[in-house]
Amino acid sequence: MSCDLCILVSQATAWGSDEDTRRSCQSKGKTEEECQNYVRVLIVYGKKVFTCGTNAFSPVCSSRQVGNLSKIIDRINGVARCPYDPRHNSTAVITSRGELYAATVIDFSGRDPAIYRSLGNVPPLRTAQYNSKWLNEPNFIAAYDIGLFTYFFFRENAVEHDCGKTVYSRVARVCKNDIGGRFLLEDTWTTFMKARLNCSRAGEIPFYYNELQSTFYLPEQDLIYGVFTTNV
Ligand SMILES: *[C@@H]1O[C@H](CO)[C@@H](O)[C@H](O)[C@H]1NC(C)=O
Ligand SMILES: *[C@@H]1O[C@H](CO)[C@@H](O)[C@H](O)[C@H]1NC(C)=O
Ligand SMILES: *[C@@H]1O[C@H](CO)[C@@H](O)[C@H](O)[C@H]1NC(C)=O
Repeated sequence: MSCDLCILVSQATAWGSDEDTRRSCQSKGKTEEECQNYVRVLIVYGKKVFTCGTNAFSPVCSSRQVGNLSKIIDRINGVARCPYDPRHNSTAVITSRGELYAATVIDFSGRDPAIYRSLGNVPPLRTAQYNSKWLNEPNFIAAYDIGLFTYFFFRENAVEHDCGKTVYSRVARVCKNDIGGRFLLEDTWTTFMKARLNCSRAGEIPFYYNELQSTFYLPEQDLIYGVFTTNV
């Protein structure tokens, strides 16, 4: 038998949504196709695989054994870790100390995007809610745990651009030792910063490649490569 594309499957496991969850999803007006389980987080750390799925608009996460993906060690709520809608672009990273940093929309309607920290031994924190200066309809691309910081790459609608709607690419970072603000800001980052990524061809009027699509981190050289496209 010839084979042009051979994939050696060393392990496979099925992870679907149960009947009740699918029915409840469809009763909220979602299609049969949307009401399935789409894996959106898949991180190997130590001897565990941490994975989250949309689970018919009812996100759920599970930790599994590296050697046996059918073996579920732990199951936790996936809200604020995985999007509800499989179309949303999200990303997540687990730090060496076992904290999960997820960048995703965290509500059913997809209007509440957040960079959210959970798990581990530090307080859960998030970006300010419904504040377009922090995040404005972002499409998250990647997250990295580097030194004292966690970095997030994404593109979003630019608030600083006031003639019509345009998308800019960003890098944001938070300090991993951030423990949040005081009083009403208890659950909010105090170290969140972001900057525009400028990928352009110089000229009298620079030509911008505004939309980050993908990144690649090369730790040996302390470099992050990005792939950008133009706005439509
Ligand atoms: C993997 O885990 C499942 C569920 O615990 C178990 O039924 C199965 O025998 C395990 N397979 C191997 C190869 O250990
Ligand atoms: C997610 O990213 C892809 C690729 O850039 C894009 O085609 C798609 O529209 C994005 N999804 C949403 C909900 O914006
Ligand atoms: C982006 O970089 C180009 C080339 O260095 C420069 O000409 C342009 O002014 C920069 N744009 C912004 C918005 O900083």
